[in-house]
Amino acid sequence: MSLEELNDYANPNVFQYKGIYFHNEYTTPEMIDSLEHLEIRDSDVFLVTFPKSGTVWTQQVLSLILNEGHRNGVEALNNIDRAPWIEYNLNNVNFDTRPDPRLFSSHLPYHLMPRDLRNRRGKIVYVYRNPKDVLVSFYHYYKLMVKMQQPNSWEHFIDLFIAGKVVGGSWFDHFRGWYINKQEFNVLFMTYEEMKKDLRSAVMKMCSFLGKTLDDEAVDTVVEKATFKNMRHDPLANYTFLPQDIIDPSKGSFLRKGTIGDWKNIMTVAQSEMFDQVFEEKMKDLKIKFTWDIDETN
Ligand code: A3P
Repeated sequence: MSLEELNDYANPNVFQYKGIYFHNEYTTPEMIDSLEHLEIRDSDVFLVTFPKSGTVWTQQVLSLILNEGHRNGVEALNNIDRAPWIEYNLNNVNFDTRPDPRLFSSHLPYHLMPRDLRNRRGKIVYVYRNPKDVLVSFYHYYKLMVKMQQPNSWEHFIDLFIAGKVVGGSWFDHFRGWYINKQEFNVLFMTYEEMKKDLRSAVMKMCSFLGKTLDDEAVDTVVEKATFKNMRHDPLANYTFLPQDIIDPSKGSFLRKGTIGDWKNIMTVAQSEMFDQVFEEKMKDLKIKFTWDIDETN
């Protein structure tokens, strides 16, 4: 695709701020700037992800770990109310009056996060996923988003993703920024793929990081309520609660496939090789292994 075609992609429902694209209906540059001074409590927990990396899944896991009322079903709050976004005002949340431990979600790059987090106050769970699956999941998700300017084609979307012209910005910059600055934060890195391979172990790892001791039965409940199958049918967790002017349910589900390696079903060999090349160029200095295929998890 030509550079012009890439640059011509104008999306009236997003704005660019500090290099990142944001939905313009739910936030402003002022709101994003104000987060720098958000007062952090030691008990705060932040879930940070690049979009389509398992955010909703981990919102479910973390809220179930942290809150007995969610585990036993006494509190019927949906995942956005359990783990509100800090950079998007989707549900008029007052951060100050939330009960401890406060759980928040964010897609922000490390440098736009509240300053206090850098003093290792609060805890962050950063979940990442192999970027080919992120790309494919994002492509399908764009189709659900009512107000999103649609890409011209799948090929077009690949280029937009690589250029960071999608909501959330560049996957490569997001991951790199968080990864190389991780020592500044109290952060646990988790992968979508390890959650997929062994959810129970992933839940135990998160419990240990959060200093939360759950008995076997409670861990079983968390795992059970966070399987793809159960979340898909759980109206508090499957995002069908989002207004239809945000997501059009007739176009598909937020919880779409929930697998590893779906990119193989849509990327051509040439597209995959081109992506590998970009990945290699941008990531080669980071000695970190990604899981691209379900077979690698066995
Ligand atoms: P797919 O589109 O590949 O199915 P996010 O919440 O960050 O937007 O990520 C959405 C992706 O996470 C979607 O991927 C969705 O299906 C997947 N997902 C959500 N809940 C899941 C679960 N319980 N198990 C596995 N994948 C899940």
